[in-house]
Amino acid sequence: METVTVNASVPYPVHISSGLLERAGELIAGVTHSRTCAVITDTTVEKLYAAPVCRSLQDAGFRVCLHAFPAGEQSKNLQTYGGMLEFLAENKLTRSDFAVTLGGGVVGDMGGFAAATYQRGIDFIQIPTTFLAASDSSVGGKTAIDLAAGKNLAGAFHQPKMVICDTDAFRTLPEDIFADGVAETVKHGLIADKDFYQFLMTGDIRAGIDEVVRRNVEIKATVVGEDEKEHGRRKLLNFGHTLGHAIEKCSGYTISHGRAVSSGMVLASRAAEKLGFSPAGTLDAVLAACRRFGLPETCPYTASELYAAATGDKKRDGGSIDVVVLEETGKAKTVRLDLDGLREFTEAAL
Ligand code: NAD
Ligand code: GLY
Repeated sequence: METVTVNASVPYPVHISSGLLERAGELIAGVTHSRTCAVITDTTVEKLYAAPVCRSLQDAGFRVCLHAFPAGEQSKNLQTYGGMLEFLAENKLTRSDFAVTLGGGVVGDMGGFAAATYQRGIDFIQIPTTFLAASDSSVGGKTAIDLAAGKNLAGAFHQPKMVICDTDAFRTLPEDIFADGVAETVKHGLIADKDFYQFLMTGDIRAGIDEVVRRNVEIKATVVGEDEKEHGRRKLLNFGHTLGHAIEKCSGYTISHGRAVSSGMVLASRAAEKLGFSPAGTLDAVLAACRRFGLPETCPYTASELYAAATGDKKRDGGSIDVVVLEETGKAKTVRLDLDGLREFTEAAL
């Protein structure tokens, strides 16, 4: 088992290995005195993995209640979140009990937000079952739901007590959902580790999946350890996200987060080269990765549609917004734009 420690305000371990779902109860029993938990999942993951996880928790002596909501980003809203809070209350979870989020990034973000706010905050454990959730969203404590005005607009920083990543779970992922995780993995290489990027461009991700997840988690943990609440360096993890979130919103959340980030990285890199923020060659590095992994390079929206959606993004700060661009392959920086600058950036992106 690989273990990476996230040195957040309260440090916590991320365990990565095959065969961990059946060991969830034993691992969790080592970090809590509570005997009651709520497993929060979606309807797809419920059918696949709720039984072994609940059994493992029960075998370790926990009272377990299970809540599943309809799978997909379109569930990541106030109504589903409200249903979770009511479920926790109906099942009489107290402040010393905890939640277990079993699923992809939607389950982790939304279940984490319910844990952050139920009775002003209870502990939670992340058990990611998508490559994206294991490599990115389960680590770092960002929890959120979408609002009609935009993506992840209500949320909280609430770090999990532990992350348990069973890489066997990826075997049931459809290819396109696995690819969403590849997009965030490529992002980590592009912003922070040229050697990792080069490995991705030549190596076999699936053959070295535990190692790839570990490297993703190390990169993210390093950034989160330095800037847990995103005052500075953590913004670099948002490469591709300003326009990516705009694409997701314009699509009514039918374009997945990973695919939108892929397009967002290409668009941001094209604009950054045209406007002189990035050197020539950085766009080619992003495009090469998209082509290798069959990820999208563009989007079906106009610059004005993207601009309108992007100005509602929470990365906006008053009249300005920080966009992330590449200084070189493996290194990123932020550029602060005013709204006219963002319009120009969006036009240059397409
Ligand atoms: P998701 O949670 O919607 O999962 C995608 C689909 O895969 C769902 O239908 C789900 O039911 C299914 N699924 C999950 N595990 C499976 C398995 N093992 N086998 C078969 N099917 C399975 O989407 P996602 O791509 O995991 O996460 C995207 C979300 O993560 C977005 O909402 C995004 O905003 C968020 N995110 C958050 C952070 C963060 O730091 N908090 C970072 C990146 C992304
Ligand atoms: N996905 C961006 C972050 O966690 O900060």
